[in-house]
Amino acid sequence: MKIKYDLNRSLFAPQEEIEIKTSFSKENIATLYFGDCLDFLSQIPDRSIQLIVTSPPYNIGKEYEKKMDIKEYISQQSQVIDECIRVLKDEGSICWEVGNYVDNSEIVPLDILLYDCFKSNDLQLRNRIVWHFGHGLHCSKRFSGRYETILWFTKSDNYTFNLDTVRIPQKYPGKKHFKGPNVGKYSSNPKGKNPSDVWDIPNVKSNHVEKTCHPCQFPIALVQRLVLALSNEQDIVFDPFLGVGSTAVAGIINKRKVAGSEIVKKYYDIACERVKLAYEGRLKVRPDKPVYEPTGNLSLAKNPFISENEESI
Ligand SMILES: C[S@@+](CC[C@H](N)C(=O)[O-])C[C@H]1O[C@@H](n2cnc3c(N)ncnc32)[C@H](O)[C@@H]1O
Repeated sequence: MKIKYDLNRSLFAPQEEIEIKTSFSKENIATLYFGDCLDFLSQIPDRSIQLIVTSPPYNIGKEYEKKMDIKEYISQQSQVIDECIRVLKDEGSICWEVGNYVDNSEIVPLDILLYDCFKSNDLQLRNRIVWHFGHGLHCSKRFSGRYETILWFTKSDNYTFNLDTVRIPQKYPGKKHFKGPNVGKYSSNPKGKNPSDVWDIPNVKSNHVEKTCHPCQFPIALVQRLVLALSNEQDIVFDPFLGVGSTAVAGIINKRKVAGSEIVKKYYDIACERVKLAYEGRLKVRPDKPVYEPTGNLSLAKNPFISENEESI
């Protein structure tokens, strides 16, 4: 079997097909439920999940949601969040990824509205991660939106955080101390630097290798950082709003057990297929590498509206 990227290592038993179960057990490698997340959550025992990563519907009228009054939306989300907190282990984490709800051209940042649903359950906010991406709609009456946020909450102070697994290369790894007792020695951590709370990861648009028919899927690299940092091998990673299974894929390729629920059959079927391919090391995934910067004499990078003289100024 050909393995394309490090990311695609197959973990449990590469020669076998994964069996995707539809009712929850802590022993299952993958439990993917076709139906409402609250129904699925009712099967999951208290304190059994290490990590929950999800991106819920944003109440903006996508094909998989009915736009509702914002108070009703927050109340529905709050029910799901309460249930997620019930099933979370004491050392576990919840990451809720959201953008803006748009009402009559006014933007309403959903993380601000949802923050209290977690705080009222005594969770602690560890980071508000800004996911920055380069592509999207071009607005004419406000600045174009190019980020969403991830609220990372823990249930206690005794939480899993594996920083070394997600370090990224320093800009100047060869930098040395210029004074003090370590003068002349390298000053950077040989394992790389903390990736910070601003993540530059391309969103999944039409030419992205991970693109499916889902209009808002996560890039695997985004979830993978959370999976690596906030859980350990064999832990269960859960996504109540599974979509096409990006959270489950990131879990499987990193030796975690996975669970999730999805109400739209075509997305559910794609999620099952992607999890199978990921398990076999055959799913194409964009590695977590720096965003491509066009350089050199590329025709598309040239501005056709200005002359070469002007360009060189
Ligand atoms: C923003 S998308 C998540 C996409 C996902 N992160 C991915 O990478 O594919 C939200 C998903 O939640 C699903 N959904 C909406 N309400 C749901 C519910 N009550 N139970 C389960 N899934 C639901 C939608 O069909 C949609 O696919």
